[in-house]
Amino acid sequence: MKESSENYLFYQTRKALPFIQRAEGIHMWDREGREYIDGCSGAVICNIGHGDRRIEKVIADQAREAFFAYRTQFENEPAVLLARDLVTYSASHFNRVFYVSGGSEAVESAMKLCRQYFYNRGEGSRYLFISRTPCYHGSTLGALALTSYGPLEIPFRPLMVSYPKIPAPYCYRCPYHKEYPHCDRECARALETTIQEQGPENVAGFVVEPIVGASIGALVPPDDYFSIIQETCRKYGVLLILDEVMTGFGRTGKLFGYEHWNVEADIVALSKGMASGYYPLGAIITRSSIVDEVMEKGGFAHGHTYAGNPMACAVGREVFRIIREDHLVENSFSMGKMLKAELHRLEEKHEIIGQVRGKGLLLALELVRDRDTREPFPVEKEANLVLTDAACEEGLIVYPRRPLYGLSGDHVLVAPPLIVQEAEVREIVERLDRALKKTSEKMR
Ligand SMILES: Cc1ncc(COP(=O)(O)O)c(C=O)c1O
Repeated sequence: MKESSENYLFYQTRKALPFIQRAEGIHMWDREGREYIDGCSGAVICNIGHGDRRIEKVIADQAREAFFAYRTQFENEPAVLLARDLVTYSASHFNRVFYVSGGSEAVESAMKLCRQYFYNRGEGSRYLFISRTPCYHGSTLGALALTSYGPLEIPFRPLMVSYPKIPAPYCYRCPYHKEYPHCDRECARALETTIQEQGPENVAGFVVEPIVGASIGALVPPDDYFSIIQETCRKYGVLLILDEVMTGFGRTGKLFGYEHWNVEADIVALSKGMASGYYPLGAIITRSSIVDEVMEKGGFAHGHTYAGNPMACAVGREVFRIIREDHLVENSFSMGKMLKAELHRLEEKHEIIGQVRGKGLLLALELVRDRDTREPFPVEKEANLVLTDAACEEGLIVYPRRPLYGLSGDHVLVAPPLIVQEAEVREIVERLDRALKKTSEKMR
């Protein structure tokens, strides 16, 4: 046997990290006894907070019955009941659920369902997906092909289909050099132009995050954005696929992000907050007209081994019950409003904050070197990591943009668990205030 004191693990970072000892509510403690506030819910996942004893009980109860049963051999009650809950509380046209174990799998499944739907309908030429720049849809090759987020996709570009992208509505740095509302929503209208360029008969779906998460930091579209998108998709028979992996389950102050603008999507990808970090779980929800087309000709040619297992679904069902019955969506809305107002207060104080944005408890700070010109910090200064490290020193975890491959621009996500209370919001802001002060000094 090999013996060594080395740590054999590797991830995206080489940084030595503290060992987690315990987590409860919005707080976490490392092995040395240091306390941290989880100011970004891990990777914007722990919506119901840490250490909820109700989940512990559900896991213990389910463990006595069955951890695992394979979905082609047994149906299981938690899977059926969670699907019923998802259909009940989502938009009225959604009535079918397909389980997976994570966000990338959810996005891949949405793409493949969409493609197989068109294939079975005799529209086999439709294989292209259009997405936006920037965006993040996952790390597997299908979801990554939709992604436009250099740090996570540049080395892998030769491995993927090169799908067309349109600009995201990044009004702070408008790609058309216009100013909202004195623009013609060119970024939304680019969808129609791109569909025409590619040939409508070749386009299967448009994939979009209702509020852009990791790649640009809580980017909220203008209020009339999605009506243009929706109309364009309908006009050309292109399926509208919403990636609600980050925005779902109350994160943005509504149960699902699409509710902000009454978007009628064809397929929605879900994960993260769905099981809030207590178990790997994700799903797509869609309408029966899409599923029937696939099921009538032999079934969906896709699936993952762990999908829809009883334990994952039992946990997901309890998490969803807690989100509804503890009114966490409402709390996300009201605490989000308070936190955003506090972040604006910090903006007045700290010149390095270029913009505060987001909805509910999916909020972000964009950092700039010059507020008037909106000039970003030089890439090599890694301002977002400087702030993230300074926050960590103050006992606050925030979620930075990835630093690889020279992508300029800095943001951090501030997205605490949806259980956060007023006093805790104030504590988050105090710690962030100290971290911003340190960051400003370092960046000078
Ligand atoms: C919008 C969005 N889609 C998909 C994913 C991929 O999810 P996972 O990391 O669970 O595969 C993420 C992860 O951050 C995400 O934010």
